[in-house]
Amino acid sequence: MSALLKAPLLLLRPMRKSDVDGVMEVESSAYAYPWTTGIFHDCLRVGYGCWVCILDERIIGHGVMSVVAGECHILNVCLHPDWQHRGLGRKLVDRLLDIARQRHADTAFLEVRESNLGALALYRSMGFNEIGTRRGYYPADSGRENAQVLALNL
Ligand SMILES: CC(C)(COP(=O)(O)OP(=O)(O)OC[C@H]1O[C@@H](n2cnc3c(N)ncnc32)[C@H](O)[C@@H]1OP(=O)(O)O)[C@@H](O)C(=O)NCCC(=O)NCCS
Repeated sequence: MSALLKAPLLLLRPMRKSDVDGVMEVESSAYAYPWTTGIFHDCLRVGYGCWVCILDERIIGHGVMSVVAGECHILNVCLHPDWQHRGLGRKLVDRLLDIARQRHADTAFLEVRESNLGALALYRSMGFNEIGTRRGYYPADSGRENAQVLALNL
């Protein structure tokens, strides 16, 4: 029972336009600099892979990626703070990578804030390697913050 509570099953389904308000609640609670509603609508409109994590019929997380010409770009991975640190983030990224493989991607890329040590630890533990730095990529309280660019062979 405790194992089930620690790592609940992750139900993933495609995001719909009508999900965006619920997705924004998760996004705003998890990030200091959240995406806007318009960004999620744009991602849906251009056909990016947009997924929501469902638990008890509620949205508790989301993932967004593009898969084009053999490259997967993971653009957003996010869980509501109430559901972090239970193994769900790892499952979410695993599922996104499986979907990318099914779509014939051979490499996955993502950017992460240098200060986001939890996410960096997760990606490194999944085999991602640092391949570069984008200077001043993100807004930050102190101005701008660098992004680490990570890649994984699929
Ligand atoms: C990053 C995020 C998706 C991770 O999801 P999570 O469910 O909290 O992570 P998990 O429980 O699956 O942890 C998996 C691994 O990540 C690492 N990790 C996660 N949070 C960590 C933290 N705060 N400090 C150190 N390591 C951490 C650990 O290596 C952990 O491995 P373990 O289970 O062997 O200890 C989630 O914390 C989140 O949504 N954060 C806010 C949004 C965000 O920063 N997204 C990433 C943008 S690039």
